[in-house]
Amino acid sequence: MQLKIYDDHHKLSDAVADEIMSLVKTKPGAVLCLASGETPRLTCQLFVQKVKNEKLDISQLTMIGLDEWVNIPPSNEGSCHYFFKNELINPLHIPEKQVHLFDAMSDKLENECRRMDALIRNNGGIDLMIVGIGMNGHIGFNEPGVSFDNYSHVIDLDETTLTVGQKYFKSKATLQKGITLGLKHLQESKKVLLLANGAKKAGVVTKTVEEEVTNTFPASIMQTHANGFVMVDREAASLLKQKN
Ligand code: PGA
Repeated sequence: MQLKIYDDHHKLSDAVADEIMSLVKTKPGAVLCLASGETPRLTCQLFVQKVKNEKLDISQLTMIGLDEWVNIPPSNEGSCHYFFKNELINPLHIPEKQVHLFDAMSDKLENECRRMDALIRNNGGIDLMIVGIGMNGHIGFNEPGVSFDNYSHVIDLDETTLTVGQKYFKSKATLQKGITLGLKHLQESKKVLLLANGAKKAGVVTKTVEEEVTNTFPASIMQTHANGFVMVDREAASLLKQKN
């Protein structure tokens, strides 16, 4: 794992958008897994601009959504579906067949998990996985205590996630479970970028980078990834002992 520190959220997001651009240029048929949330929103917006400016052909790219709130419909502005539609699919007119998101309204969520696992496997695995970090150290909905060996699964959401997660919704949402790629997917991804910005993430960034690797703090798994990068802004790096 390597740590990279940027001056601010914009510079960080620009570097991540450039990573996606160069992935598509070197491997047009790449598999990209993206998280939704406040952290990667600017990355998505900058990527859209760059694709348009450079007229980059993304027609071979496969895009996978990291997770989704169970029982929250795609029309809800707090859903991950809504995020991807708004930030990427509509602005870039990406055909539906290129984008694979969990159907969290399905009454067969277990099948949804196996469908996603098979899709990733059949496409040769994830080339680039871009994730955020929750205030409890979760990645996607891999909550504290999760097995590092899980592929896609459905999970009861942690108290912190239930509380913090309300920030995405206009009115109070009934949240209970999440459906998510697993940390085995992260370990098997050819490259992983974990992004964090802002002072409120400084504590969890320190635990991710400088404390023990443990499933009670899932993001610490980043330390074990040979091609893993923790990319943060100065504020999120402010509590690190080693800043280089
Ligand atoms: P955020 O979410 O980017 O909205 O802070 C991160 C997460 O919970 O994974």
